[in-house]
Amino acid sequence: MPQITRRTFFKGLALASIAAAGSQALIGCTQKQPLRKLPIPPLLAGTQEGNKRHFQLVAQQGESQILPDKTTTTWGFNGAHLGPTLIAKKGEEVHIAVKNELDEMTTMHWHGMKLPARADGGPHSPIEPGTSWEASWTVVNAAASLWYHPHTHGLTGLHAYRGLAGMFIIEDDTSAALDLPSDYGVDDIPLVLMDHRFLEDGSLDESDLPDLGLLGDTPTVNGITGAEFQATTCRIRLRILNGSNMRFFKLQFSDKRSFDVIASDTGFLQEPFSTTNIALGPGERWEIVVELEPSEEVTLESIGFKDNFGVPTDKYTPDFGMADHFELLSIIGPDSPGQDPKPLPGILEKAETLDIQDAPQRSFVLNTFSINDQMMDMQRVDEVIDHQGPEVWTVTNDNSDWPHNFHIHNARFQVLSLDNTEVELFQAGWKDTVALPPGASATLAVEFGYYPDPQWPYMYHCHMLYHEDQGMMGQFVIVEQGQQPAATVGAGATHNH
Ligand code: C2O
Ligand code: CU
Ligand code: CU
Repeated sequence: MPQITRRTFFKGLALASIAAAGSQALIGCTQKQPLRKLPIPPLLAGTQEGNKRHFQLVAQQGESQILPDKTTTTWGFNGAHLGPTLIAKKGEEVHIAVKNELDEMTTMHWHGMKLPARADGGPHSPIEPGTSWEASWTVVNAAASLWYHPHTHGLTGLHAYRGLAGMFIIEDDTSAALDLPSDYGVDDIPLVLMDHRFLEDGSLDESDLPDLGLLGDTPTVNGITGAEFQATTCRIRLRILNGSNMRFFKLQFSDKRSFDVIASDTGFLQEPFSTTNIALGPGERWEIVVELEPSEEVTLESIGFKDNFGVPTDKYTPDFGMADHFELLSIIGPDSPGQDPKPLPGILEKAETLDIQDAPQRSFVLNTFSINDQMMDMQRVDEVIDHQGPEVWTVTNDNSDWPHNFHIHNARFQVLSLDNTEVELFQAGWKDTVALPPGASATLAVEFGYYPDPQWPYMYHCHMLYHEDQGMMGQFVIVEQGQQPAATVGAGATHNH
């Protein structure tokens, strides 16, 4: 009888386990993985000292359980994956030290924040491995759910995909006075939506798809797949951020219940808006309030755009995943009913419109990887704003088969109109990013922070990160009246050591 050597024995085992894995995979098609508890990013209030808050963020690599049964190497701040939720109040001075413990250069940008350009953390503020970068500014933004992510030119998409992203909550007197769920992690829940692709061993697939970059096939919420949130109250507030590279989400609950939208990217709506679904392109946020019955189960889903977001579906055009349907988060109602919730506040924020009577106008035409026929050049200043006061920007998506969106740093805007598209998008409230279906043209009333500085530029760009990284970005400086931008912009202009 031939002896079974250790070697062949192991080989046999390996084959057997592959076979077992195979049948498990088959079972996996019909039987769902058990859900896991929704992770809540830690709340970081910083250390307070009078009117100042000091924050410390450390960019690092670690191992995460994005999938239930595999380990994935990820990046995060102060942890293995994603970042804590920062919180500060309007009027406070924030000081943030960002330490880079990765072995690659990165940068850190405060998306939605009005602040001096040198604190904005654009591509001109590299943080080399082993070094720290500091940003400080006084918070002038109204209450909102902002966020932070890298802005390394050409690598923003990859760095965010690996997990460098977090939420930044701003509070103010208005938010403090409103009777809204505001117990962080209990009835006030941040939801960071992303999507990924995985290799067999659980590592992130970082290969760019043609024209689509890092479009994922697996959605995650706060860093995991298959998340479940057990509510303890009948009313919850969800602060939803689309932190994905390229994906547009259209969210709806499995029973098509209505919910109230209370805030857009950069602030409260004037009044709650009741709807059954809401769309978010990369970079956008919405805050919604949802009512739950005791012990009920409802799922937050991404249902896909029935009109494919205006993207034609012939075989030559990439599909951008616009019609994909995913289950994102299972929500379970509280054990007991508690008191009947009071009606939501009827007025959230006082009406405010910008005086755009004599406002300067600019137009931006987006096509493939360019804006106004140019691609990003870190030493070219594309626009100079030498006044205080709003402007009217018209942004046109000139591609007939690609979606785009448009984000402006150091600004908030109202979408005055969205033309040349059949796609209906709810665009109310103060925003910093607008979604543009193929062919669409948006007119924006834009209010900038006024921190004149000829040396440091701000960015405007498509927030589909593959497009941004390919060069779909431009720079503007804000200067005093009549002033010119510096001959060399960014850190390159000063050699002070
Ligand atoms: Cu969210 Cu220029 O970025
Ligand atoms: Cu930004
Ligand atoms: Cu784009």
